[in-house]
Amino acid sequence: MTNLDAVIKGFAAHYGSDPQGVWQAPGRVNVIGEHTDYNDGFMLPIAIPQAARVAATRRDDGVLRLHSAQSPQNTGTQNTGTQNTGTQGTETAELRVTELSPRTVGGWAGYPAGVVWALLDAGHQVGGADLFFDSDVPVGGGLSSSAALECAVAFAYNDLYRLGLTPTELALLAQRAENVFVGVPCGILDQLASSCCAEGAALFVDVRAIDPPQGRTRQVPLDLATAGLVLLVIDTEVKHAHADGAYARRREGCEQAAALLGVPALRDIGREDLDAALARLPEGELRALTRHIVTEDDRVERVTALLDAGDLRGIGPLLTEGHASMRDDFVISCAETDLAVATAVEAGALGARMTGGGFGGSIIALVEREDADRVADAVAAAFAAQGWKPPRAFAVTPAAGAARLA
Ligand code: GLA
Repeated sequence: MTNLDAVIKGFAAHYGSDPQGVWQAPGRVNVIGEHTDYNDGFMLPIAIPQAARVAATRRDDGVLRLHSAQSPQNTGTQNTGTQNTGTQGTETAELRVTELSPRTVGGWAGYPAGVVWALLDAGHQVGGADLFFDSDVPVGGGLSSSAALECAVAFAYNDLYRLGLTPTELALLAQRAENVFVGVPCGILDQLASSCCAEGAALFVDVRAIDPPQGRTRQVPLDLATAGLVLLVIDTEVKHAHADGAYARRREGCEQAAALLGVPALRDIGREDLDAALARLPEGELRALTRHIVTEDDRVERVTALLDAGDLRGIGPLLTEGHASMRDDFVISCAETDLAVATAVEAGALGARMTGGGFGGSIIALVEREDADRVADAVAAAFAAQGWKPPRAFAVTPAAGAARLA
């Protein structure tokens, strides 16, 4: 049975009729550009083949029914789509759209409910729906399982209620759902990647110019197969506690540094101005945070230029450098991701780095096709030697962004 058949059948079994349509939104890995989004900077994500799918039928009585094929029991320790480690909520929720208000819906249901709230809050005339979810984006792996859920719902509502919103506008609404309704202070990276990526390409994002007509944000061809390369994702399957609070503190630190430097955001400090800027900040954390953001923006531009020039192998060292910057300056890596990256590079990866918000989750490793198994095995062996549970390795290719499937 295909993924499409499965979600249609699931909808019919649960709600007793066929859905009006099916929409899909992918997870993502970020090739480079971490924590730069809320600093108005640059990122280079790809969408991955793993995606959230939603089968949906519009309801005009204001009732929003949500059901997930992933029950809390069969998604490990977490609910489908939740970023945090709570196990609150069940696989089914029934809500009234007019009663939705921020922070009132816990667990995975908060993401889809938040999108409906964000649409209403922005003045769109939307009502209820019956929604059935099925997702193969690993939860808690730093691969944006929650953004995938949000974007699938945003795209479904856009069609069911004929809103005519663009993928970029839907991404911004999904981010607002997460920021305000769920209460996670994330940037735009995940939702924009899920909504706007294209098959066979990475998406260069300039947060100050995310609408394609503004020119800067654009698709950058990334044909790994023709180059004989594989992008491995190695999910450490660990998510350290307090990740949400640590994320918020990094964000506050960056804002504080920008204020002390008298710029709207750290993006406004160029690589050539970094030393002078650091000298104006107090020694310690604010300097380190600033150094990561400014050098990371620079790495995104350099990686993009190499891809434009067709030098895919050339980006390897910049990926590994990016990991060191997250480990030493931004202090968001952990023993598991550090070991995975170091082992992958020792085993012959061209470059490797943690991807996503940090404190666990997944690493990516760029490898020659013939080295892929060796690199994955080496990381597995290194984890076994520590007595850690086996990481999960799989190859990804740049996939399409969110779309209607049926
Ligand atoms: C998480 C957030 C994103 C971004 C990344 C780090 O995935 O949701 O907005 O800040 O971390 O790059």
